[in-house]
Amino acid sequence: PERQNAKGWDLTHMPTLVDIDAARKPFAATQFAAQPLTATNPDDPRSPAADATPIYNPAKPDDLVGHVAAATHADIDTALAAAQPWDADVATRARILNAAADAYEANAGQIFALLAREAGKTMPDVVAEIREAVDFLRYYAAQARPDRSARGIWTCISPWNFPLAIFTGQIAAALAAGNAVIAKPAEQTPLIASFAVALLHQAGVPAHVLQLLPGGGAVGAALTADVRINGVAFTGSTATARKIRASMAMHCNPGTPLIAETGGLNAMIVDSTALPEHAIRDIINGAFRSAGQRCSALRCLYVQDDIAPKLLKMLKGAMDELRADDPWDISTDLGPVIDKAAHQNIADYIQQAQAEGRIIHQLDAPRQGHFIPPTAIRVDSIAQMDREIFGPVLHVATFRAEALDEVITAINDTGYGLTFGLHTRIDDRVQAIVERVDAGNIYVNRDQIGAVVGSQPFGGEGLSGTGPKAGGPHYLPRFSGETREPIAD
Ligand code: SER
Repeated sequence: PERQNAKGWDLTHMPTLVDIDAARKPFAATQFAAQPLTATNPDDPRSPAADATPIYNPAKPDDLVGHVAAATHADIDTALAAAQPWDADVATRARILNAAADAYEANAGQIFALLAREAGKTMPDVVAEIREAVDFLRYYAAQARPDRSARGIWTCISPWNFPLAIFTGQIAAALAAGNAVIAKPAEQTPLIASFAVALLHQAGVPAHVLQLLPGGGAVGAALTADVRINGVAFTGSTATARKIRASMAMHCNPGTPLIAETGGLNAMIVDSTALPEHAIRDIINGAFRSAGQRCSALRCLYVQDDIAPKLLKMLKGAMDELRADDPWDISTDLGPVIDKAAHQNIADYIQQAQAEGRIIHQLDAPRQGHFIPPTAIRVDSIAQMDREIFGPVLHVATFRAEALDEVITAINDTGYGLTFGLHTRIDDRVQAIVERVDAGNIYVNRDQIGAVVGSQPFGGEGLSGTGPKAGGPHYLPRFSGETREPIAD
């Protein structure tokens, strides 16, 4: 018991300090492989080179990270037929999930290298991500209860922007509740997913309980259009969530749950009482950390007009300090965007803003690799933004004090409701604004990214997701057939 914190997490293994450079070095040029891992074929012997797709480092086009063989129809059938809920008792499941957390920490070097080379993640982001993945495993292990029954087979479809943390979080919750999982990782990041599944299997999760089916949209579509599926956990775009919902309505039993975490058009309001240095730090972090590739990222900054000239001057200065470069270099602040298609989409968007004379400030970025330079763009209102631009692009609007109500209405009218940030030193204003803004996660006088598992349950409303929030007390019960009385946050 002395090894548990107040939340009941097992702290037997506190995070180990690792020499990042030394730990990842052996994997700087290693090539990895991913293929379907099904119960009848957990160590798939198919040669990755045969019919596999190469995966290149988004920062360095000539760095071949590995190959992936996508799941075939036969693999999907095999996985669905073989999947069986986890019949181990609760204590065993929790012990195995904690053992997997230990294995993640013990293999941090390889994970650092994979996250950097496959997903273009900077070292600070890599460290935070491995921490979050481990936290998810320990947190859901601590929440497993004997009086909740498994639903059956869960499809878990995860995104490339947190290819370890979100991938692991969905799976850990489903497993802690005793379900079978068929995991479909993002098409761009199957290598890290494959390594994570290998660690989970080694820790003791049986092969028929956790199966991996790498591939693109067709694999995901098949796994959300089958009556044998008893639940779907999805993180990705709002448009894909809609398709999944429609497919489940057609093919799954009524009442099969969908947990969807989707996009956001996240705003921050900075009024004239805010501390400028403090606000700037949080704006930079929210908009540009992870190259803006977080669903929580700051997209539209509203600055009160009387401090706007000063704040914008400081913003440009702070942007000039950012270094967009190879994430393998420990001093890099932001890496590339994930792939060529993402790069093209964001570059076209910026070019349009340029043609309209709306660029406030833009840096340089390396020419090789899928780099987008940090960019600030002027808008009159968040209403002008018709979609989420998933990259290092910050929109800036100004507002007059009398127009604060209109600003909040415009933010709510986007229909999204994921994160919201506020910088002010007036207590009454905090209360008034926080009550009116529709957002799942609201942050006051800090940045709006990096929700901490167990302390800041994360998830949105409206177009941003279904709930329940990940990393909070309501998440795991949704994976169970019986939900106990509501749990206080
Ligand atoms: N959980 C992540 C964050 O809070 C999602 O992007 O930033």
